[in-house]
Amino acid sequence: MARVGNSIIKGIEIDEAIGLLNRAYADEWLAYYQYYIESKVIKGIMKDSIIAELNQHATDELRHADMIAGRILQLGGTPLLNPKEWFKQTNCGYEEPKDFDVLAILEDSIKGEQCAIETYSKLVDITKDKDIVTYDIVSEILADEVEHEEDLQGLYEDITEFKVQIKESLK
Ligand SMILES: [Fe+2]
Ligand SMILES: [Fe+2]
Repeated sequence: MARVGNSIIKGIEIDEAIGLLNRAYADEWLAYYQYYIESKVIKGIMKDSIIAELNQHATDELRHADMIAGRILQLGGTPLLNPKEWFKQTNCGYEEPKDFDVLAILEDSIKGEQCAIETYSKLVDITKDKDIVTYDIVSEILADEVEHEEDLQGLYEDITEFKVQIKESLK
């Protein structure tokens, strides 16, 4: 039976919404894994506080994946079933950590968050006044991604500043 919940969607095809959500779903799983593995391999100054932040972000990205999967199912779609699809459908790709130093890891993560912010702000624009339920979900995720970027930038600046102070004190 047709769902009344879906009949309130106006001006956007449900299949299009499902497709866009699945792309974001791929991003979230890749972001989750990126934070997870970064927290394992990271090295250097103030490592412990960065690990705590990376773990928090990993938890958030997985929660985002869960929110999106729920909405895809509600719309009558199927969340991507095969991880191979994550790489085919992702908007933001995956930054394999190559340099494990704290600053390099933070740079990779900041790049990911900036892409996530762009992706979700587009989704907010696309769904606004058309699919209110998806709009609410992507708006909430967007706010988290903005906070993620800010937290990482803050840590990046703290470490950079700390390194300068150490250099000064050694003079
Ligand atoms: Fe996310
Ligand atoms: Fe994030």
